[in-house]
Amino acid sequence: MSVVGARPNFMKIAPFIKVISKYNELQEEKIEHMLVHTGQHYDDRMSKAFFTALDIPDADINLGIGSGSHAEQVGNTMIAFEKVLLKEKPDWVIVLGDVNATLACTVTAKKMHIRVCHIEAGLRSFDDQMPEEINRLVTDRLSDLLLTPDELSIENLKNEGVLKSKIEFVGNIMIDTLESNSKKAFNLNIKDIIKDNYIQKQKNNDLNNFNFQTSHFALMTMHRPSNVDQKEILNPIIRFLLDEVSIDMPIIWPIHPRTQNQLQQFSLWNEIILNEKLIVLNPLGYHEMLKLNMAAKIMLTDSGGLQEECTVLGTPCLTLRWNTERPITLRENGGASVLVGNNISRIRKEYKNTLELNRTPDRPKLWDGKTAERVLEAILKANK
Ligand code: UD1
Repeated sequence: MSVVGARPNFMKIAPFIKVISKYNELQEEKIEHMLVHTGQHYDDRMSKAFFTALDIPDADINLGIGSGSHAEQVGNTMIAFEKVLLKEKPDWVIVLGDVNATLACTVTAKKMHIRVCHIEAGLRSFDDQMPEEINRLVTDRLSDLLLTPDELSIENLKNEGVLKSKIEFVGNIMIDTLESNSKKAFNLNIKDIIKDNYIQKQKNNDLNNFNFQTSHFALMTMHRPSNVDQKEILNPIIRFLLDEVSIDMPIIWPIHPRTQNQLQQFSLWNEIILNEKLIVLNPLGYHEMLKLNMAAKIMLTDSGGLQEECTVLGTPCLTLRWNTERPITLRENGGASVLVGNNISRIRKEYKNTLELNRTPDRPKLWDGKTAERVLEAILKANK
């Protein structure tokens, strides 16, 4: 039984489900698989659109958890998931990444003596102010099979005393999805993406003013509470975007619902949507975001997944965080990204540096599009 809850889980589960179907076509002894969606992300654009675009079958069970505080999301998921486990009695629960569903379902399964496999184990930011770090720590402490995306993660787990026999280096499953969808994404048209997802209905903006085909635009995403929940932090970032970056090039910003809510609360929303060079879009589909990432001159983001995709696509990336659980994506380790936190002078300096740099990042080991196969092999081996 695999569990997904929030947007970053969907692109990780897609290749795993495909590999199970392929296995079942070829083997006599079939794997019975159920998909549970906790419902943490529920907007069509945050959830259903990914199921459709990535050809993920509908979840067998949706727990309908929705928004709430962390304790509410985790607690409600545990109560609902326990009932599912009592009825379905799976041999394994497969969890992904670091969202609240990952933590909640791991704890519930382990208390019922059901084995847990964690895909994307061992990532550490060493920052326990991040809700995701707590989710990662607890999940890895309890999991029976820990599948890591890189070798640095193996070291983290060993340092925490995890038995070597529980750890397997499989690579990054999200890159399987990137590889199998890059052709479709490449063929999309950027102007169509903007027209179809434009949020600034109030503004009679002439999109033809921008020449997107030249790839001369910055791509922006931001949703972390540490960046968007306080006006003193969010406001200077917005000023930098509006007063500096937008002078150099247009900025495309697909906006997370949390961030939109916060900008509205802080009375920053109107200025943003009225700015002609800042193109605010609804949350984008997988292929649309991939196409923009392929074409962007520079990425500004606080997302972990985008840091990884930039490393594979070669898009220079300013990571709006002070730390990362994905050090393999950093320039000093061969990747595409540099940590800039939310200090404007640091962001400005690295923004200028990055535009002058011309380099191709190294692709990390086993980010080869074949991770899902290794995931299934590892589970079958552990099941013996
Ligand atoms: C979650 C994950 C984070 C991941 C991010 C990607 C946790 C702890 N965090 O954060 O690791 O990077 O997803 O998107 O699990 N909302 C909607 N519609 C939705 C979903 C959310 O409007 O479909 C709004 C709600 O107002 C909610 C807010 O966005 O309160 C934040 O959503 P939440 O599920 O709490 O976490 P994310 O910030 O999305």
